Amino acid sequence: MRGLPAALERWTDEKLEIDVFPEDRAPSPAELKAWVQDADGVVALLSDRFDATLIDACPRLRVIANYAVGYDNIDAIAAAERGIWVTNTPDVLTDATADLTWALILGLARRLREAESVIREGRVWEWKPGMLLGRELRGATLGILGFGRIGQAVARRAQGFGMQTIVTTRRTLGSEASSVFGVEQVSFDELLERSEVLSIHCPLTDQTFHRFGEDEFRRMRRDAYVINTARGPIVDEAALVRALEEGQLAGAGLDVFEREPCVEPGLVESPRVMLLPHIGSATEWTRGRMAEIAMTNAVNVLLGGKPLNPVCAVPNPR
Ligand code: DGY
Repeated sequence: MRGLPAALERWTDEKLEIDVFPEDRAPSPAELKAWVQDADGVVALLSDRFDATLIDACPRLRVIANYAVGYDNIDAIAAAERGIWVTNTPDVLTDATADLTWALILGLARRLREAESVIREGRVWEWKPGMLLGRELRGATLGILGFGRIGQAVARRAQGFGMQTIVTTRRTLGSEASSVFGVEQVSFDELLERSEVLSIHCPLTDQTFHRFGEDEFRRMRRDAYVINTARGPIVDEAALVRALEEGQLAGAGLDVFEREPCVEPGLVESPRVMLLPHIGSATEWTRGRMAEIAMTNAVNVLLGGKPLNPVCAVPNPR
């Protein structure tokens, strides 16, 4: 584990020996292996990759408690087959991430980056009817890919902004989709074709890797914004840069990247994007709750109980 001091304090009197990675940076794969190979449980960050090879190198491991709701950094099937629990931190980051999604949507629609730079760069300005005109959201179509907790929270907020919301998700939505969230379920093709703002809220899996590439961007509206607060590799960043350069899209708001912490240089150079360093869940309350939940999951297993938030069943726990 690393970087969770507040959560650690609560557990200092438990019958557990807790080691914290001493550096304020992600361990290299070799450092991670050396750090966890004798551990009984691990609290992992989303940058800590637990593939089957690393899991096999940890003969005592009984729980990998991810400090995130997404767990694409862990081979959960390989872990379960070896009797190891994998857990996550659902619910507590739903509102923080939905809020940040809306910060990106509003930032793009109202050109906040450009507007702020006028003042920061000391440029001469005066109020003019045509200065920095943005886009109205009222009546515009918001497309949401993935309708789990965060997708739903984004849809709820869209009602306040008077947007028409369409959703693509694998399951068939019931009548509450329109009565509670005001959304219409559509096919992925329709989502691409109709969305003026398309916000991604699905997990990263083999099926969603590069779900947005050259072909998808070509089928989208030229005035559309793409928002990604889910996982970077769902979007082919190189294809996104080309689509922006060729005017196939109006802009993008990204909190997550394909190869974090690296960002495709074409994105950094583009005036049409807002870029944030994966801060979707970064509020004091949310990060504190995530720490408590991750620690509780780990401690429960290590003290002989069951975790609160297993991501899948473990038929024969170690
Ligand atoms: C998560 O929990 O999956 C988030 O990406 C962390 O901000």
